[in-house]
Amino acid sequence: AAIRRADYRPPTFTVDAIRLEFDLDPAETIVTAELSLRCLTETAFPLHLDGEDLTLLELSLDGTALDPAQHVDGAGRLVLHELPPRAVLRTRCRIAPEANSRLTGLYLSNGIFCTQCEAQGFRRITFFPDRPDVLATYDVTVRADAGSCPVLLSNGNCVDRQSLPDGRHMARWQDPFPKPSYLFALVAGRLDRLADTFTTRSGRQVDLHLYVEPGQAARAHCAMAALKQSMAWDEARFGLEYDLDIFNIVAVADFNSGAMENKSLNIFNAKYILADEATATDTDMELIEGVVAHEYFHNWTGNRVTCRDWFQLSLKEGLTVFRDQEFTADHRSRAVKRIRDVRTLRARQFPEDAGPLSHPVRPDTYVEINNFYTATVYEKGAEVIRMIHTILGEARFQAGMRLYLGRHDGQAATCEDFVAAMEEASGCDLVQFRRWYSQSGTPRVTAQWHVEGPASGAGPGAGGQALPDGGCLVLTLSQDTPPTADQAEKVPLDIPIRLALLDGEGRPIAAWLEEAADAAPDRSAPGEHLLRLTGPRQRFRFRPAEAQEHAPLPSLNCGFSAPVILHADYGDADDAFLMVRDPDAVNRWEAGQRYATRVLLRMAAAEDPAMAVDGRYVDAFGGLLRDEAMDPSFAAVAMVLPEEGYLADQMAVVDVDGLHAAREAMLRAIALAHRNVLLGMHARLQPARPYRADADQAALRAQRNAALALLGLLTEDAEVQRLVMAHYRDADNMTDRLAALTVLAHHGQEAARNLALADFEERYRGEALVLDKWLAVQAQAPRRDALATVRRLLDHPAFRLSNPNRVYALIGAFAMRNQWRFHAADGGGYAFLAEQVKKLDGLNRQVAARMAGAFGRWQRYDGPRQNLMRAALESIRDMPGLSRDTFEIVNKSLEVG
Ligand code: ARG
Ligand code: ZN
Repeated sequence: AAIRRADYRPPTFTVDAIRLEFDLDPAETIVTAELSLRCLTETAFPLHLDGEDLTLLELSLDGTALDPAQHVDGAGRLVLHELPPRAVLRTRCRIAPEANSRLTGLYLSNGIFCTQCEAQGFRRITFFPDRPDVLATYDVTVRADAGSCPVLLSNGNCVDRQSLPDGRHMARWQDPFPKPSYLFALVAGRLDRLADTFTTRSGRQVDLHLYVEPGQAARAHCAMAALKQSMAWDEARFGLEYDLDIFNIVAVADFNSGAMENKSLNIFNAKYILADEATATDTDMELIEGVVAHEYFHNWTGNRVTCRDWFQLSLKEGLTVFRDQEFTADHRSRAVKRIRDVRTLRARQFPEDAGPLSHPVRPDTYVEINNFYTATVYEKGAEVIRMIHTILGEARFQAGMRLYLGRHDGQAATCEDFVAAMEEASGCDLVQFRRWYSQSGTPRVTAQWHVEGPASGAGPGAGGQALPDGGCLVLTLSQDTPPTADQAEKVPLDIPIRLALLDGEGRPIAAWLEEAADAAPDRSAPGEHLLRLTGPRQRFRFRPAEAQEHAPLPSLNCGFSAPVILHADYGDADDAFLMVRDPDAVNRWEAGQRYATRVLLRMAAAEDPAMAVDGRYVDAFGGLLRDEAMDPSFAAVAMVLPEEGYLADQMAVVDVDGLHAAREAMLRAIALAHRNVLLGMHARLQPARPYRADADQAALRAQRNAALALLGLLTEDAEVQRLVMAHYRDADNMTDRLAALTVLAHHGQEAARNLALADFEERYRGEALVLDKWLAVQAQAPRRDALATVRRLLDHPAFRLSNPNRVYALIGAFAMRNQWRFHAADGGGYAFLAEQVKKLDGLNRQVAARMAGAFGRWQRYDGPRQNLMRAALESIRDMPGLSRDTFEIVNKSLEVG
């Protein structure tokens, strides 16, 4: 049964306040709830309160006991036949946290009681109108065994704490801010605490408490520093301050997603908190900073102003992702952060738009809301906010934020409310722009250009041609969005394209844009233009301020200003030039990727890809390597060839083996041709000791490890292999150790490979999060035996199907990050995934549904593979008792075929 956005109705009654009492016990927890109900309109009876897997023990309305058996319907909801305008409803329910393997509602993680209520987990704790537009104040009493649960936490302020008979104790928490049920949280268990404080700019002293499993507090410092940085940054850049005297974060081992922004009690997947140099890579630390920031930023964008309904999810997620991206960009290399985000968007969101699960940033319908925590809602949602920022500029965007938050504080709002505030505060027209929220699919923008002389004579291409005085460059942009699985008809969008015209040295030239509005964004470089492509096809004429010896080359979509697929007139020579000269670092990277993609696709189509290596590309790559002035963090990303998955997306029918052979051959050719430069780079970039986690050292490590990864292809080169082993052995941090392990596990000779894998396993025995890396490295190995290895690792003591991190590290890494082996022609990968999804579905349907998404691109492969994937999908669909979550994904995948 699909839920539709168009069917939204405001609630007919609300809950002003809720008092909750928990008597915690792993097998039988008793939850007593007292709801102050208030009718908002004429209410149609009977009234239903959401409930799931609850045993109702007692029920009373305004003190009058009712028969529980008469008030629960077949779907598990509480039914009230009538209700006065105001009433107090009291329920007593029993739940079983230890039996809750779905990790939503109240569950146990390594003996710690914790909750996950977004999106609809609160109904698994007590009967309630479990929808985000019902905002209540919470008063929560928690009672538990004092020995096993010394720490008792909930939202807001702790107002009471006492010992109780029988070795139990209690704590009472009150949250003054009304909130929707999905922001409720409770934690109880044995936890260590790292404490600090932050003083807000208006002088409020906030206690910051970070709770982790016993013995782990030393690994929480990075997260604590990130929290303090986030609080300071939100004040400085957005003018937003924290609003309570306490802010708690708890890290737990078993968690479906990354983290959750519960009011003043964020709960995190331990993977996004625990880090030190010995167990976490530089990338892990950057991710941790980003996730800590993201959850903290939700306090305003999500909690103070929440979502009216789940179709508006991107209102809080897209905006908060944009905010965390900007946080990282302001603290590290802005260009590299942007490049990483573009890479994520292309790897995860573009395929979603192109596949059976495509949906707009604001979906119109869903079966299971948990399936809509997608790259489209999050990442494309953030792109939509970023485009508004580009169009308005920072100052007007911030004015829009102030209006939005001021107007809707304490309310449940919509995406439309947000855009309306941006429009009103800025005076900018966003009427057509709104289509980004309602239209799915990735727009394709085609760019062509030519020179027009002063008299008339239109030249053909621009490359190399002179641009005489009075001449101009004519740029034609057109857009079209191919139909998607969910929408056949598409309309033109309002697409902001930043661009610069570059001279023969790569310098932006000054030029006037004729016959069009030309508003430059705040951050734009001199000589940059912001075009708004609103029609299907538009021409832009640029008249350079001075005559040019060569017609300028446009650098388009600078900073990846719009999330589109760009088809432009660039040839290999243009890209070879742009990849070293474009002053916009994102486009410099983009040119290198575009060039590599073209070359790799040509190679894949050849009889023998290894014989078809393009020497000019190898030379151009050498140019990158020899540029010692290049920012090392940029060099590190520029040295990575497009992934096989991305290359596959560029083909009508994916050539699994050809692409793999082409990419490996190119990597090897680069390593062979530039062996000595790479060795020199590896020697030169050793960061000073002692190890520091800061961005400067991290950048050196990243570039050095990119060099190592390329060298690692030279399996037969004894000197190189000794160097890789030394790199592994001498590593004084996880970044370097994992980089060397990856090289050895993916390309090393048998003995060296086995030695490194065994050493790593032994060294980190008992360190679950570190062994996840070990699992993932093996699952992603470009080796014929990868699937056999993955199957064997299912039985490894470090693996358990009930922990989402383990599943993502082993099964997810194989199915989503090892295209060559997952899509092996014999169908073994597909059968394996189907088997695992079926096992997972009974245990944790959210994780099962996510894994099933790996079949999403099935139509892009050849006939035999399509048949195998379809059979795998059908076998899942036909499993008796399949969850709604997995069914929605599998069924949509099959429906497109
Ligand atoms: N709101 C959380 C965050 O982005 C994620 C919650 C995920 N919940 C889910 N049901 N998938 O930070
Ligand atoms: Zn979020």
